Amino acid sequence: MLLLLLISSAFLLPWAGAGRIIGGKEVKRHSRPYMAYLHIQVLYPSSRKAYSCGGFLIGPDAVLSAAHCVDKNGTVRVTVTLGAHNISVRERSQQRIPVERWVTPPKYSSDGHINDIVLLKLKTKAKINKNVKQIAFSGSNERVTVGTKCSVAGWGWTAVEGRGSDVLMEVELKVQNDEPCKQLFHNYLRHSMMCVGDKKGKKTTYEGDSGGPFVCNQKAYGIVSRGVGTRPFPKVFTRISYFEPWIREQLRKFALQELPGSPSSD
Ligand SMILES: *[C@@H]1O[C@H](CO)[C@@H](O)[C@H](O)[C@H]1NC(C)=O
Ligand SMILES: *[C@@H]1O[C@H](CO)[C@@H](O)[C@H](O)[C@H]1NC(C)=O
Repeated sequence: MLLLLLISSAFLLPWAGAGRIIGGKEVKRHSRPYMAYLHIQVLYPSSRKAYSCGGFLIGPDAVLSAAHCVDKNGTVRVTVTLGAHNISVRERSQQRIPVERWVTPPKYSSDGHINDIVLLKLKTKAKINKNVKQIAFSGSNERVTVGTKCSVAGWGWTAVEGRGSDVLMEVELKVQNDEPCKQLFHNYLRHSMMCVGDKKGKKTTYEGDSGGPFVCNQKAYGIVSRGVGTRPFPKVFTRISYFEPWIREQLRKFALQELPGSPSSD
């Protein structure tokens, strides 16, 4: 369902991005130096379609995002832009780097967005500077408590009937207990997902802020993963702590150049 939405919006709006932050505000330029903009070019069946996702830098050549962003029917080519604020402009701060390959957990399933996480390996290392920096992510024993307010940024749409934002927007959302997500998503898994959102429905991400980090206390705890149609509440984010050992292992493999070619499922 989400996949179809993503693809159909990509057909209509090649550059608009598959997601939207609603009820947020523009961030101070370069105050989120870990943010990555993913431009995803569909190569098959037609090469004229493209869409975008969010992501975040966790190593000089490593970006985390949502697996469903790169798992489309047909192959895709991914380019990451770091150091961006206004994505419609080629800012001097921007570093545009092609993605060499990526890896998803062996048990990733696009049906229900189970294990919706991907680690992208960049072709060249990013130059770390004041506009481009890594962010730490939560350890396997770290959890944020229900009620904690964390922030999520993206270049998605700013209204349901709106358009993509060219500047980076951010919204604060609360960690919820699992109940609203269990009710709405039959395959909600509390160990690997987190339930997030604004109960009043005034503030939200949509699916194409997909891949962006849910940041609590300067650390990434979640990855924007799924929602239902235009419903603003609740949203399911991938729980990073569950995947921490897997991420560390993949980073070691990146360093050793041992990864199989992408797309891969190891
Ligand atoms: C993927 O695309 C092919 C070719 O267009 C089509 O035959 C197939 O049904 C599609 N699969 C899914 C899951 O949409
Ligand atoms: C982003 O850049 C474009 C192109 O220069 C400009 O038209 C637009 O107003 C800018 N957006 C914002 C919010 O400053």
